[in-house]
Amino acid sequence: MKKLFRIVGIGLASIVGVLLLAVGIISFLGSKKIAASPSVAHDFTSQAPDSSMLAHGEQLATVVSRCIGCHGVGLQGAALGEEDAFGLFVASNLTSGKGGVGGSFTDGDWEKAVRHGIGGDGRVLVGMPAEFFSAYSDEDFSALLSYLKQLPPIDNELPKTKPALLAKLLIGAGIYSPPSLVVDPEMVHATSPPTGSTIEYGKYLTNLAACGECHGVALKGPAFEGPPPGPDLTRTGALATWSEAEFLHAVRSGARPDGTILDPNLMPWPGFTRLTDTQLSSIWAYLNSLP
Ligand code: HEC
Ligand code: HEC
Repeated sequence: MKKLFRIVGIGLASIVGVLLLAVGIISFLGSKKIAASPSVAHDFTSQAPDSSMLAHGEQLATVVSRCIGCHGVGLQGAALGEEDAFGLFVASNLTSGKGGVGGSFTDGDWEKAVRHGIGGDGRVLVGMPAEFFSAYSDEDFSALLSYLKQLPPIDNELPKTKPALLAKLLIGAGIYSPPSLVVDPEMVHATSPPTGSTIEYGKYLTNLAACGECHGVALKGPAFEGPPPGPDLTRTGALATWSEAEFLHAVRSGARPDGTILDPNLMPWPGFTRLTDTQLSSIWAYLNSLP
């Protein structure tokens, strides 16, 4: 009997040992991926701003891409929740106030951060959806920058983002990849498709709005369960039975056709209330075109 206990004991101890070793290796791989600082092939020079560009940039920052959803209403930066087993994620202060990047960022720095996911100091950004924003055309990106560069300075010094064990495991195992490891550093940015209720424009906007951040890159729901969970938006999901008008109403008011309300803490519809009819019907056309 004693012998059996000893064998079982040694067996369990080795299993625990192997698991700990695996956790150690995977989290080490995660740390290494975050520490790698990729370089970006292209620099960027924005077009000289005018007033119509500024209004367009405001719509991009506050409605379409909702930078304010993470970086705060004045883009003064904010911690995204409390520190937990995933770590602490802090969206940077984008203004030129104390603790902000606005005062020192060149066009090339904005380009690296927003379209490639690499911070001003060269760090790999975690939790910044740059893999979607890489779709920005130069023209729209210039408009976005014209708005960001004239933000009133807000002093807000914040702690740095600190990914912890669970985040490193997800990154190490390749379940979540930071944007800079997904975006091609040599990427040449496409021009904006013409505005209209077309599939092409809808696809472009779906990227700028980062719908796939929660609904999955293929918009069929996320690759792994866990925050943030967005349902299937293709014809295999609930939307198959919705009309276009019902879709427009749901995204702008949060009310599904059956009258239930989308949780605004999960699905950021209050931010989408100012999307235009053309913008939403193009997104609808794109979602309907998906396999
Ligand atoms: C889902 C939340 C989220 C959204 C939406 C978002 N960001 Fe971020 N952003 C972050 C986080 C988190 C960081 C910091 C990551 C880190 O430090 O590793 C960040 C970092 C940045 C940085 C890097 C600055 C530095 O410290 O070097 C810039 C610039 C930036 N974001 C601009 C934007 C702009 C512009 C938009 C809208 C087009 C936007 N972000 C939308 C979460 C977000
Ligand atoms: C920050 C995460 C997030 C983003 C970004 C996001 N969604 Fe959602 N969305 C959700 C979640 C979570 C739900 C489910 C909410 C609930 O059950 O209350 C949802 C629900 C929906 C629904 C209802 C689907 C159903 O089956 O009932 C639609 C339609 C929708 N989202 C469209 C969009 C579109 C279009 C975009 C981009 C313009 C978008 N979402 C961006 C998280 C998100």
